Amino acid sequence: MKIAVLPGDGIGPEIVAEALKVLQVFRQEGVGLELEMADVGGIAVERHGDPLPAATLALCQASDAVLFGSIGGPKYDTLARHLRPERGLLRLRKKLDLFANLRPAQVFPELVNASTLKPEVVSGLDLMIVRELTGDIYFGEPRGVVHNAQGERVGTNTMIYSDTEIRRVAHWGFQAAQKRRKQLCSVDKMNVLECTQLWRDVVTELAPEYPDVQLTHMLVDNAAMQLVRNPRQFDVIVTGNLFGDILSDEASMLTGSIGMLPSASLNASGLGLYEPIHGSAPDIAGQGIANPLAQILSTAMMFRYSLQRADLADRVEHAVRQVLQSGLRTADLAQPGQGAVSTSQMGDAVAAAVRQQA
Ligand code: IPM
Ligand code: MG
Repeated sequence: MKIAVLPGDGIGPEIVAEALKVLQVFRQEGVGLELEMADVGGIAVERHGDPLPAATLALCQASDAVLFGSIGGPKYDTLARHLRPERGLLRLRKKLDLFANLRPAQVFPELVNASTLKPEVVSGLDLMIVRELTGDIYFGEPRGVVHNAQGERVGTNTMIYSDTEIRRVAHWGFQAAQKRRKQLCSVDKMNVLECTQLWRDVVTELAPEYPDVQLTHMLVDNAAMQLVRNPRQFDVIVTGNLFGDILSDEASMLTGSIGMLPSASLNASGLGLYEPIHGSAPDIAGQGIANPLAQILSTAMMFRYSLQRADLADRVEHAVRQVLQSGLRTADLAQPGQGAVSTSQMGDAVAAAVRQQA
């Protein structure tokens, strides 16, 4: 199994190093994992003048999975738009056709007090956002800022979805629900946006193929409210790229720490990119205090979705639970007065717990 490893910027390299400790345990046990590193994001602009160098793209295309850290940082914010680190990630998603983005949000019982919401609201929360990732206003044309006839600047982006684009991600939503509590909530803004009326129509047309799944629809503004009012009403949410971007950040905060949440971005042939949903956290980069658990849990998703090794995914997830149960916390999770461990101490502890299960 060939894995492209793209640490990226900010805390990316630090937390990817911890995920590699876990992969190393499996390699020592004889699991055939071939790892190859490549540059992406700001570091790739610095070294190769391109946030997604051709060699990096080629490596990803030739791999079974991509383990991705994080990209971006204030020092890149003044670069021309096509050189921005984010553009590297967006191009990679598009080139690999990673249209289905799975973003689980789960409250670990050990961390229920880390949420800003009351424990009785979030305790036991376990939802999954299926976000469309290669369409919508992120990629729609026309786009840009031009001067109109009056010499005034006018900005345009285009929200656009085809039947096919909606259908293929909606299938993912239904199938994710089938494997869980069998409830699918499709989120749109059909009261205002025609594009999302089509979204609702297409999702509704598919429902008869999944008679065991209970399909509901919700407007995005209401969904944003319901996520903080009563988040446990949700099992699987399926939505477009822009709404999914926003709602998944909101959902992540329900769990207490954005530093805990992994994600998978998949194409039709099972190739996946696995990344923590948090960003590059430039404010804490280089200090050895970042939480590596989202990155480590991303390797678990990689084993489950791209490498067909659910047994190894279970071991990683179990090890993370064990380490949390033993009381270990990085700074983002520690309660006042509770000591915090470093990034590498957390990685070492998880790797040791994985090894012990062998
Ligand atoms: C995400 C991020 C990206 C997005 C950025 C970095 C381009 O916010 O993965 O949610 O908007 O999709
Ligand atoms: Mg986002």
